[in-house]
Amino acid sequence: MKEIKSRFLRACHRLPVDATPVWFMRQAGRYMEEYRAIREKLTLLDMVERPEVAAEVTLQPVNAHGVDAAILFADILLPVVPMGFNLEFVKGKGPQIYNPFRVEADLNRMQKIDAKSDLGHVMEAIRILRGELTEEVALIGFSGAPFTVASYMIEGGPSKEYHHVKSLMFAYPEVWAQFIGEVTDALTDYLVSQIEAGAQAVQVFDSWVGALSPGDYQQHVLPYSTKMIQAAKAKGVPVIHFGTNTTTLLPLMKSAGSHVVGLDWRIPLDEGWNLLGEDVAVQGNLDPIALFAPKDVLGAKVKEVLDRAGGRSGHIFNLGHGISRFTDPDQVKTVVEMVHEWTAK
Ligand code: CP3
Repeated sequence: MKEIKSRFLRACHRLPVDATPVWFMRQAGRYMEEYRAIREKLTLLDMVERPEVAAEVTLQPVNAHGVDAAILFADILLPVVPMGFNLEFVKGKGPQIYNPFRVEADLNRMQKIDAKSDLGHVMEAIRILRGELTEEVALIGFSGAPFTVASYMIEGGPSKEYHHVKSLMFAYPEVWAQFIGEVTDALTDYLVSQIEAGAQAVQVFDSWVGALSPGDYQQHVLPYSTKMIQAAKAKGVPVIHFGTNTTTLLPLMKSAGSHVVGLDWRIPLDEGWNLLGEDVAVQGNLDPIALFAPKDVLGAKVKEVLDRAGGRSGHIFNLGHGISRFTDPDQVKTVVEMVHEWTAK
């Protein structure tokens, strides 16, 4: 087998690295001036529909901060549009879906998607990026996990209590199963197509899955996440499975079979790793708000994460959730330098 040059990909496989790899969830975005200059003229959806723009924005944090991986500039909600849902990103409100899924009859208007054509611009951005990135910097593709995407499709936007989602799940389990099954098929097609276009690793974002008890997760969600992760794995690239508020779900999430599990900051990294076991890599888990602390405090928090990883193979440094839009980009660069310097072999 050819030697893997990217330290990020090596860590996914729990191989030894010359320094701990680091990247940040939501590393491209409004906290960067280069991003705002483009975003001023285009909506988010316009940006992702233009593959050259999506590729350019993907590279901004790579060039500015020296991270070890690029994450494709796209969004977990893009596939809901060809599925027949009216999506808009509304300033101050986040994503809004104007025709949410609520009742059994809504199954009739669900469209099957063909990601290679319906989301061909995303695949094109991947092809452009693979031509521009060096072997040292890996390209990560991603999709939302079935539960998190389904929750937006049902609630119609961000939610605190997941009232509509859980009501559907508990009162009409057959409708839920049919619905999430179709969502899973679409998201799996989207994720697998990204790998076929050239994504070298993929992350499955189940950002809101911590809203569920372990029993409900196991019964109503895990089979679908597993199906999706296994399909990506079968394509031969590492898979990262991430959620927040997942302390009680970690062993179940691990059973879905990803190479890497992403931890949020609520659990100390070593405790999370112990719950998962040593046969899986972990990604995380600095509190994104630590980036607002003075350098000495920030450094102590970075060091704590690294100490808890304890130099074991298979740690990818990241935040415990996405970067805040008010973050100072210099602080991000400082974290990259700290991680590389303090772990260099
Ligand atoms: O990480 C990256 O740099 C790649 C791009 C990326 C975006 N969204 C672009 C984006 C990724 C990986 C995502 C994932 C995503 N999208 C998730 C999972 C990660 C997480 O944070 O939990 C979720 C839940 C979404 C859904 C979504 N998209 C929300 C809640 C929002 C609104 C956020 C806000 O601050 O208004 C979006 C919009 C979005 N997606 C932005 C970006 C850069 C903000 C866009 C803008 O208005 O310029």
